[in-house]
Amino acid sequence: MSLPVTPAAPEDEPAAASDWWRHAVIYQVYPRSFADSDGDGIGDLAGVRSRLPYLRDLGVDAVWLSPFYASPQADAGYDVSDYRRVDPMFGELADAAGLIEDAHALGLRVIVDLVPNHCSDQHEWFQRALLAGPGSTARKRFHFQTGRGVAGELPPNDWESVFGGPAWTRVPDGEWYLHLFAPEQPDLNWDHPAVHDEFRSILRFWLDLGVDGFRIDVAHGLVKAPGLPDVGGADQLKLLGNLATPYFDQDGVHEIYRDWRRVLDEYDGERIFVAEAWTPTLQRAAQYVRSDELHQAFNFSYLCTDWQVDALREIVDLTLAAMGEVGAPATWVLSNHDVTRHATRFANPPGLGIQMVTPGDRELGLRRARAATLLMLGLPGSAYVYQGEELGLPDVTDLPDEVRADPSFHRADGQDGFRDGCRVPIPWSGSAAPYGFGPRDGGPSWLPQPDAWAELSVETQTGVEGSTLELYRAALAARRAHTSLQGGDLAWLDAPAGVLAFRRTAGAATPVVVTANTTGEHVRMAVPGALLLSSSPLEVADGEAVLAPDTTAWWAV
Ligand code: NOJ
Ligand code: MG
Repeated sequence: MSLPVTPAAPEDEPAAASDWWRHAVIYQVYPRSFADSDGDGIGDLAGVRSRLPYLRDLGVDAVWLSPFYASPQADAGYDVSDYRRVDPMFGELADAAGLIEDAHALGLRVIVDLVPNHCSDQHEWFQRALLAGPGSTARKRFHFQTGRGVAGELPPNDWESVFGGPAWTRVPDGEWYLHLFAPEQPDLNWDHPAVHDEFRSILRFWLDLGVDGFRIDVAHGLVKAPGLPDVGGADQLKLLGNLATPYFDQDGVHEIYRDWRRVLDEYDGERIFVAEAWTPTLQRAAQYVRSDELHQAFNFSYLCTDWQVDALREIVDLTLAAMGEVGAPATWVLSNHDVTRHATRFANPPGLGIQMVTPGDRELGLRRARAATLLMLGLPGSAYVYQGEELGLPDVTDLPDEVRADPSFHRADGQDGFRDGCRVPIPWSGSAAPYGFGPRDGGPSWLPQPDAWAELSVETQTGVEGSTLELYRAALAARRAHTSLQGGDLAWLDAPAGVLAFRRTAGAATPVVVTANTTGEHVRMAVPGALLLSSSPLEVADGEAVLAPDTTAWWAV
């Protein structure tokens, strides 16, 4: 048999578009809150599919979908009962296949969520483990243990669940099982070969369906320290954990990612992995993106940084240095489905962390959010945009307790777990709720939308000069048009106090200068070039620019 011969590319042909992920803008879709095609009040895959042209026009490169797999929804789909099935609430496998096909036809890539740290307590494996009883092989796929205390009545160790309370639940026969999140999310035991085999097979299932990559949930949690030792009194961080503990960021996880990378590399088309890894330092995060492991890791250090000049500059430098060390692209992210939207974080005083229920000063928050976005999109590397931030949506801070679905809210007696506020369905159009999220006015939405959201809808903002949506569109278009904003280097420039200024250059391409005024004052500076874009109106006269408070501008030089 003779193999087909690929003709050598002529010398003047540009190299195939490679390394797309090194400077991609990736849009996070949270399926239950994006678009509801069947009117049940819950977003679905057909809804996402119908809105793909919107995402293409917005100008993003790829879409990451939060989980849509079969799930009892104890943690909004991060409790998977069947990794190869679409939950009927979201549609069926054919919808996922159709979505991927349509996305590709529009030039968009599709990244799906992979949840390997834990499954649902309704997963066949866990149900079998419960039935099989202590000492069984079925139990070895999870972390079942006998308890401490005279009669085993105390949990096996002092680990706390990220969602509050002990990380252990006791079953009727007396054994305890580990769940770093809700009790409905038992942790898988990654010391067991069957777990490895199963996830390799799940990877292949979705790769065969055509996905372009995976976002790995709790990528830092799979491997636990041998013997499951006590943490010993340390403050066990509540959200997702960025302290050194025996259950997060163990060196053993890297062997898993090297193995997965070999699987991924068997497939064509530059598919990628992005890690959700909360680590104590950026250096530790960089370990996940060494050349034979994953491609990207979310930059949570950046997400956690206040709108403050020195802090921002420091984190940018640390990021570029840590990622540069291993040859990985930096990533930048301001919002996702687990944290208060940045328009609300920046509306509040610094130091409140990343989950809050105070609306703060809305106008200030939006102004800073727009400036922060232009700053983020001006940095070298890849950026993540969370659905709705392009509309300048604030967090919904006043949801009634009864509608809240975040499991950590209920486990923490309403003192924590405010993630529903960033998960409120998107306003698309019209003057009545659900504002085009569902097919008919007055129809349901799984969380109520604020009355004021008609003003923020896609329809209201489209074509309106100065709207946040048009700002995102213009920024993404400018990023595509200027090579120096893609792979280019960053050099800091001298700037007035409170202003960040840097130049992006890439070979002979037009350099772009980014200036971000983080202060509440007007700041004057010499005009660095031709104005491309500004997050707030900006005056330029006689070679001098007046940067309005909390404003980022891009300049072609
Ligand atoms: C991180 C996810 O982003 C979050 O939504 C989820 O609750 C936890 N992992 C547990 O899967
Ligand atoms: Mg629906």
